[in-house]
Amino acid sequence: MAPPPGAALTWELVDGGVAVVTFDLKGEPVNKISRAVKQDVQATFEALEQDPSVKAIAFFSGKADTFIAGADIEEFVALATAAEAERLSAEGQALLERVARFPKPVAAGIHGACLGGGLEFALACRYRVASDHPRTQLGLPEVQLGLLPGAGGCQRLPRLIGARAALDIILAGKVERAQKAFRLGIVDELVPHAILKDITIAAAQRMAGGWQPRRRRPGGFTGWLLDGNPLGRRLVFRAARKQVLAQTRGNYPAPLAALEAVEFGLKHGMAAGLKREAELFGQLAVTDVSRKLVQIFFATTALKKDFGIPNPPPPATVHRLGVVGAGFMGAGIAGTAIAQGGVDVRMKDADLPRVTKGLATAREILDDRLKRRRITKYEHARLVALLSGSDTYTGFGRAELVIEAVFEDLQVKQQVLREVESASGPETVFASNTSTIPIRRIAEAGGRPEHVIGMHFFSPVARMPLVEVIPSTRTLPAVVSTTVAFGRRMGKTPIVVKDSPGFWINRILTPYMNEAGQLLVEGVAIEELDRLMVEFGFPVGPITLMDEVGLDVGEKVIGVMHEAYGERFAPVPAFAGMVKSGRFGRKAGKGFYQYAGGKKGGVDPAVYEVIGAQPNGGPRPAEIIQRLVLVMLNEAARAAGEGIVRSPRDGDVGAIFGFGFPPFRGGPLRHADDLGAARIVGELERLADRYGARFAPSDALRDLAQRNTKFYP
Ligand code: 3HC
Repeated sequence: MAPPPGAALTWELVDGGVAVVTFDLKGEPVNKISRAVKQDVQATFEALEQDPSVKAIAFFSGKADTFIAGADIEEFVALATAAEAERLSAEGQALLERVARFPKPVAAGIHGACLGGGLEFALACRYRVASDHPRTQLGLPEVQLGLLPGAGGCQRLPRLIGARAALDIILAGKVERAQKAFRLGIVDELVPHAILKDITIAAAQRMAGGWQPRRRRPGGFTGWLLDGNPLGRRLVFRAARKQVLAQTRGNYPAPLAALEAVEFGLKHGMAAGLKREAELFGQLAVTDVSRKLVQIFFATTALKKDFGIPNPPPPATVHRLGVVGAGFMGAGIAGTAIAQGGVDVRMKDADLPRVTKGLATAREILDDRLKRRRITKYEHARLVALLSGSDTYTGFGRAELVIEAVFEDLQVKQQVLREVESASGPETVFASNTSTIPIRRIAEAGGRPEHVIGMHFFSPVARMPLVEVIPSTRTLPAVVSTTVAFGRRMGKTPIVVKDSPGFWINRILTPYMNEAGQLLVEGVAIEELDRLMVEFGFPVGPITLMDEVGLDVGEKVIGVMHEAYGERFAPVPAFAGMVKSGRFGRKAGKGFYQYAGGKKGGVDPAVYEVIGAQPNGGPRPAEIIQRLVLVMLNEAARAAGEGIVRSPRDGDVGAIFGFGFPPFRGGPLRHADDLGAARIVGELERLADRYGARFAPSDALRDLAQRNTKFYP
């Protein structure tokens, strides 16, 4: 039967009565399940059922890198009521029930991303074959959008792999590589991409001949004890609930709702479970948290193809990267560039012992990937061979990009620039990993300012997802493109920001850190301060963050900011005492907290002596939170008003990825919009009266308040 024109699904009959169905959503980069696609699936399966020559189905994607990316998230944005969202979920469930109960066996051949509704579709098929390609990733990321798997995923996955393993994926919104999915029992067969089609068709044929796939649930006796009987399961759910509450602190409703959908279904059966799942999906889809997380998804996606400048020239490909400075940062950059980008890296530092240490640290990133089975032994050996180093600039002549990560000092960085310029080619891009120093100041020491740019990474480089890219007014557009593309190749989300002290991240983080120091001096206990901000939604509180960043680094940053912006950035004396006494934080083994064997312990009581204040309760918790948050929002508004970020989108994604501003609040600028500029201005005026001019509302906020507008349209 000929497919209707414009259809996403097409099929042809091959030997043995197998209909090979191909899903290829025309004009879209990925396959997604929209309302129109659902109708198409419905109609196609209708036709397949009716056609007596079709004995079995083998289902594939026509896209190169995705199987199915899930339900169409754009449709969620338009949902106005919980009832409407519930209906959408129920429709999806009904369709997949049809697939699951289809009278002819269905095998799915999975290559590329198989996520959310895409995995739920695959779970409804009778047999799943996956390619062992790194791009083949399976998962249920719905909770990351503030949702739950609402097309039967909360029912089918626990039935297939057991409650424990399913909760592990569903509650964290995890995406697993094909190998792991195979080990967990999500897919039945793992094969090289080249034979995926043949193997899937063969499985469909076998099933048509009466063969029944057999599955043994992984997990052995413990698995049976915990997943296979109601008592064990109750323990599993209790532990999971406790963990979710500890992690979300009540800020994210989706994981708890997902837990309920799974538990309800296992207790009351599939039909009741599906109904509950759809109800809960409906409730979640219209929450403010879900709206915010969906906005972040689209913002991040848009950033993936934004080079941060108008009409970006094509980026140059970097084959060799030079890294100057083999400290923790430089080594992190080197290791990540190899692990993510497979680029050849040459490190340089002043003496060989430092280089050796840096090489070892960079290599640890590769070893870690091997340990986590993200790469094979063979890949590991190939990547390790890409890393080399020396105490001279030999090998820098061929580098298309050099990143310096030396001490945060203008003269030192300028000296390195001059050395690199004489050791490298005329087109080599010089990127400075500075956290505060304006790029134009560094560039003026060299002879090719148009090839100088900033690339501010966050520590630890291997894990932190953001990089600030900072062109000076003289940087060539092609240099910006090359740097942004390279940041992306390193697996980072780059935001292009204006060249001014502290750029975006340290500009808005510094007043927040300073205010935290001020609160300590006023008698707030260290743990209390951290606890309040974690409850607000940050991954760690400001004092823990200070220990992680390093107090010596923090002092440098505050110094530069103070010089540039004046009194509102005046350093708190409490921090100076910490630096003087060598309490640099985690890396020194002592900071505000105690560290033993790399592990963080409790607050070091001796610290209060050093900062010259004893905990006495301090201001009320609400006042503490307000001071910390508003001082940051105020500076964010001021910086946004100065055009430090190109859009509120960049500013918010930057703050979320750079230091973990609570994603469910959408970022500092989105949060300011939610609070309302007029209200923030009023509160800041009150705080300024009480605590001083550092709280004086910025012109940007006053302007928004006066015009009664927002950052976002
Ligand atoms: N819905 C709508 N649009 C989607 C989408 C989806 N599920 N997945 C991807 N897209 C869009 C992107 O917005 C982007 O659009 P654009 O070109 O107009 O900007 C385009 O597809 C390409 O996406 P990427 O740039 O992200 O492509 P990548 O190759 O880098 O990544 C991907 C592909 C891994 C599939 C990534 O897009 C992704 O993670 N997608 C979202 C996956 C997801 O969260 N799925 C769950 C959806 S919710 C659900 O299924 C509910 C169900 O349980 C009922």
